[in-house]
Amino acid sequence: MCGIVGYVGNKDVVPILIDGLKRLEYRGYDSAGIGVIENGRLELRRCMGKICNLENALKEKPCKGSIALGHTRWATHGRPSEENAHPHTDCQDRLVVVHNGIIENYLTLKKGLIKEGHKFKSETDTEVLAHLVEKYLAKSRGKKSILFALQRALKEVEGSYAVGVISVDDPEKIVCARKESPLVIGLGRKEYFIASDVPAILGYTRKVIYLDDGETAEVSTSGVEVYDKSGRKIKKKVFQISWDPVMAEKGGYKHFMLKEIHEQPRAIRDTFRGRMAPDKGEVYLEEIGLSKEEIRKIEKVYIVACGTSYHSALYGEFLFEELVRLPCEVDIGSEFRYRNPIINGNTLVLLISQSGETADTLAGLKEAKEKGGKTLAICNVLGSTATREADGVIYTRAGPEIGVASSKAFTAQLTALCLLAIYFGRVRGTLGKEKARNILMHLLRIPHQVEEVLENQEEIIACAQSYFKKIDFLFLGRHINYPIALEGALKLKEISYIHAEGYPAGEMKHGPIALIDKNMPVLAIATDSKVYEKVMANIEEVKARDGIVIALATKNNKEIKKKAEYVFYLSETMEILSPIVNVVSLQLLAYHIAALRGCDVDQPRNLAKSVTVE
Ligand code: AGP
Repeated sequence: MCGIVGYVGNKDVVPILIDGLKRLEYRGYDSAGIGVIENGRLELRRCMGKICNLENALKEKPCKGSIALGHTRWATHGRPSEENAHPHTDCQDRLVVVHNGIIENYLTLKKGLIKEGHKFKSETDTEVLAHLVEKYLAKSRGKKSILFALQRALKEVEGSYAVGVISVDDPEKIVCARKESPLVIGLGRKEYFIASDVPAILGYTRKVIYLDDGETAEVSTSGVEVYDKSGRKIKKKVFQISWDPVMAEKGGYKHFMLKEIHEQPRAIRDTFRGRMAPDKGEVYLEEIGLSKEEIRKIEKVYIVACGTSYHSALYGEFLFEELVRLPCEVDIGSEFRYRNPIINGNTLVLLISQSGETADTLAGLKEAKEKGGKTLAICNVLGSTATREADGVIYTRAGPEIGVASSKAFTAQLTALCLLAIYFGRVRGTLGKEKARNILMHLLRIPHQVEEVLENQEEIIACAQSYFKKIDFLFLGRHINYPIALEGALKLKEISYIHAEGYPAGEMKHGPIALIDKNMPVLAIATDSKVYEKVMANIEEVKARDGIVIALATKNNKEIKKKAEYVFYLSETMEILSPIVNVVSLQLLAYHIAALRGCDVDQPRNLAKSVTVE
C-alpha cells in the first residue's frame, strides 16, 4: 500500500521525510517522492523504484524547508512512473497532494475538470484531488482556507483516501483527511507529523491521534485541529504508543521476518499477560465490550478474516466448537460480504486482522454491523479502523509486524483465540474450571516451547538446503493442525515463490496423491494427537509413491524417523495448543528456503503488508 509522511515544524524537513518513508518501505511500493515548500516555492522530487533513487535526486538538486509531504506509491491507477509518482500538483504548481486509497469516480471528475480548463500531467486518480482543491480555492478567491477547499473537494469524491495537502498560499499548514484508509497525526514539541502508519514517526514522537472516516484536520506548529464530517471542530483521544523505535527496526536480524519469528515467545506472553489466572482456571477479557449476559445469549459465531488471519480463524472454529459448544462458521472477508449471511442480535461476528485495515475484512465488519450483529475485532494495531468500528477489541500484543509475511501476529492471534474461547466457555458454563486450568497451565509453557524450536533450527536449515530448489511443496495436516498446513503453505509460497499447497491429509486419496513423485516434498504435521495414526497412514501413502517426506513430530517418536527424510521434533504439549508451536517450524522452513533463494523476504514481489484496497 502507499505510504504517506508529512512534517511541519522547525527542523530541516528533508532528512525527516526520507527517514519516515524508509520506515514505511515494508508496505510495498514502486515509486517515491517529496514536495517541499522552500522560500515560498514548491520543490518537487520524484522517482521510480526505491527511496535511494529519491535520495540521489535530492543530492543532485538539494532542497530545504520546514514543511513537506512525502509518499511511497503502490500503483493502483496508472503504471509505475515518475509522472505518476506522488506528490501531485495543481495547474499552477502552488499546492501538492499525497494520497493513499482509490478515487473510484476519478474519471468523471477528471473529465469535468478538463472541461473547466485544468491540465493533467499524470494517469493517476490522485491528481484529481489536486485540481479539485485548486478549483475550490479559486472559487473562494482566496477567502477560504486550504482546509475548506479540501473539505469541499472531498464532497465530490467517491472511494477511499488518506490525503495530505500543502500549499505555498498557506505555507505553515498541512491539511489532511481520511476515509477508509488510515492516517495518523503525530504530536511533537512544536513539530507535527502525518503518516499512514506509526513506524514512520515513532523515532520522533509516541503521541498520536488517529483520524476517523470523514474527519479532516489542520496541522501547524501551533497544533492540530480536527473536524468531523459536518465540519464541526472535535476533540480526539491522544494514544501513547508503547512500541519503541528499536522494536520497529531489525534488531540485528537479517530480515524483519526473522526477527519477528524470534519475537514470538514475547508476543505470546504479552498477549496472555494480565488476561489469565492459570491456577484459578480463569480468563479476564472485560475489554471485549460484551457483558456476560450478552455472551450467554450468543447463538452463532462467524469468524471473518483474510490470508494468514483466515488460518487463525479456522483454528478459532475448532476452539469455539470444542470449548464453547457454539456453532461457528469461518469465511474469507472477500466472500463473506457477498453471501448475505444470516445475522441477528445474538450473532457474534469476530474479525481477525493484524493491520485492522484490510478492506475485505472491514467490509465484513460493515456487513455484520448493518445486520445488527455483535462485532469483536482481534487486531494488532492500536487504534486501527477495525478496532474503532467493532463493538469490542482484543489486542494482540505482538508489537509492530513489519515483514509482509505475518508470523508473530499469527501466533498472537491463536493465543488470543484460546483466551477468548476459554473465557466464553467459562461464562457459558461449557468449560469446567479444571479443564480451563489445565489448558491455561499448558498455555503458560507455550512461549518456552517456541523458544526450544527457535534454539534448534539445525534440522530445519538442513532440510531447506536440500529442497530450496524444488518447485512444488505439499503440506498436510489433520483436524486442529489442518489450518497450520494451510499457513505453512502460504508462508512458503508468499516469500519463496515456490508453488505450495496446504491440504487436509485425509484428502490425499481424493486427488493430491496424483501429484506425488520423487520430486515432491510433502510436509506432514504428525505431532502426537488423536489423529496421529491417520497421518502416519498418509505418510505411508507418500512413501509408497517415492514422495519426499518431511515430518513434524513429538520428541521421542522414533518410529517416524524411519519414514521421513527430515523430522522436526517438538516437545509435547496439549493437542489443542499444538498449532501455536507447530507453525513456528513451518515459518522457519519457509524463511530459510526463501533466504537461500535470495528472495526479498520482507517485501515479497506483488505483495503489500496491509491490503487496504479491494
Ligand atoms: C500473511 O502472511 C499475508 N501477508 C496476508 O495473507 C495477510 O495475512 C492478509 O492480507 C490479512 O492481513 P490482516 O491480518 O492485516 O487483515
